[in-house]
Amino acid sequence: MRAVDVQGTFFTYDDGTEALAGIDFHVEEGEFVAILGSNGSGKTTLIQLLVGLLKAKSGQIVLSGREIGSLTAEELYQRVGLVFQNPNDQLFAATVEEDVAFGPRNLNLPEAEVQMRITEVLTAVAALPLRGRAIHHLSFGEQKRVSLAGVLAMRPAVLILDEPTAGLDPAGEAQMMQLLKKLNREERMTVILATHSVDMLPLFANRIYVLDHGRVLQQGPSEEIFCHQEMIVRAKLRLPYVSRLMYEMKRHDGVPIDGLPLTIGEARAQLLELIPKEMILPGIEEIGP
Ligand SMILES: Nc1ncnc2c1ncn2[C@@H]1O[C@H](COP(=O)(O)OP(=O)(O)OP(=O)(O)O)[C@@H](O)[C@H]1O
Ligand SMILES: [Mg+2]
Repeated sequence: MRAVDVQGTFFTYDDGTEALAGIDFHVEEGEFVAILGSNGSGKTTLIQLLVGLLKAKSGQIVLSGREIGSLTAEELYQRVGLVFQNPNDQLFAATVEEDVAFGPRNLNLPEAEVQMRITEVLTAVAALPLRGRAIHHLSFGEQKRVSLAGVLAMRPAVLILDEPTAGLDPAGEAQMMQLLKKLNREERMTVILATHSVDMLPLFANRIYVLDHGRVLQQGPSEEIFCHQEMIVRAKLRLPYVSRLMYEMKRHDGVPIDGLPLTIGEARAQLLELIPKEMILPGIEEIGP
């Protein structure tokens, strides 16, 4: 079944700004989908409609077969959970433990179950040692992980994240993306994330929606999306750096590269094909993707 099905959705803010101008967007159960778009393209607005924080003026939003307006708050929380871009907008309790417990307690779960979920989700986001810490003493990256834990504690079928890696250092960014990939692959959680960072995306997203001025410019698998360079430029985005390098080598130096590698792993495999065997040192340690 489709986890999320948005059709013909428009949204205009009270001051007259048209943020979404007829969006069709769908996500199947178990998919990992990225919403890619420049600042102001409508990513946050779309995401807020998906979790019921904003109400569409027209069009239809269906979550796992039910129209969003017909769901009780509890049914909505079971379907979708949103991790905000800024943890300050999400975290409000004094301590990590209290914050993560807030949602499950609101569901009137038995306290033993609440405690179990706290341990489970803090372990999942590598934040168990932070359990008793004051929220306002945490670093930004730690706050981001705790925000994610609070949403996971509600066990939503679809996890939605607004710019999950913004403000994280390179190691934090990689850690966050690996964690989301793990939740998607191992826990079969459907993941939707909004971002304008292109370099990590092809490694993780099954499909990408490119948004521009509140419209979907294009959607499809990442290897297809990045082949449409004019569209990427029109959306004020860019190719992943490694793809750009390979593209330039193909175009200006005539290096015979097939298609367009999107990841370092793909680029490496293609370059190794072109380098004479005797120039390659055997037995060098494997690198990651
Ligand atoms: N509360 C608001 N009132 C009026 N206009 C708004 C409001 N929030 C957003 N907008 C406008 O709606 C449009 C889409 O904004 P949105 O926040 O959805 O973009 P975004 O893709 O999330 O951008 P960013 O990458 O900067 O987070 C922009 O033109 C923005 O100025
Ligand atoms: Mg935004």
